[in-house]
Amino acid sequence: MQLNENSLIFLRGEIEKKMSKKRLLHTFAVEKEISTLGKLYGFDKNGITKLRVSALLHDITKEINIDGQISYCKQYGIKITKDDLKSPKLFHSLTGAHLARQLYPDIVDKTIFNAIRFHTSGKPNMSMFEKLLYLADYIEETRVFADCVTLRNFFYSSKEFTLEHLDKTLLLSYDLTIKNLLDEVRPIHPKTIAARNSLIKN
Ligand SMILES: [Fe+2]
Ligand SMILES: [Fe+2]
Repeated sequence: MQLNENSLIFLRGEIEKKMSKKRLLHTFAVEKEISTLGKLYGFDKNGITKLRVSALLHDITKEINIDGQISYCKQYGIKITKDDLKSPKLFHSLTGAHLARQLYPDIVDKTIFNAIRFHTSGKPNMSMFEKLLYLADYIEETRVFADCVTLRNFFYSSKEFTLEHLDKTLLLSYDLTIKNLLDEVRPIHPKTIAARNSLIKN
């Protein structure tokens, strides 16, 4: 299906019915951010619309509690690993990608599905589309957490928005995330470690 402005209007209305005010503000800020990032990285009008769709749907299950997340996975046969169970904050990307496709099969294709699927943990060899959702979620303007501000400032301090700069920004984001998890004595999901290592070339 060709996505257009009407798809965005439709989805904004859909999530307004489902999300808390706080989550909604974050979601709209991610939509705004990803539109900026899409322009910086040369996406055309259709590409930017698609990026915006992924932003609108990325946290669609974030407000379901952990028990609900696990039972959703069981109900639909979504595989949960032991590592997933140790990082419950990441569950909503598994369930969110699935629910988004269930609810909007004409809108959510593989590209959007995967971007939602990996927006929390990251993964090695992410596509440009996946990287932009991951980053927009991290640096959108309503985020005031110190690491988010650090990452936003680093990203926008560049004069040139090259793939290399995007990868350097992602590497910094993984380092900040991992440092935080270490400080809080929390487990690090192996996908995040693999994603970080994949960005370090030799
Ligand atoms: Fe999320
Ligand atoms: Fe988010």
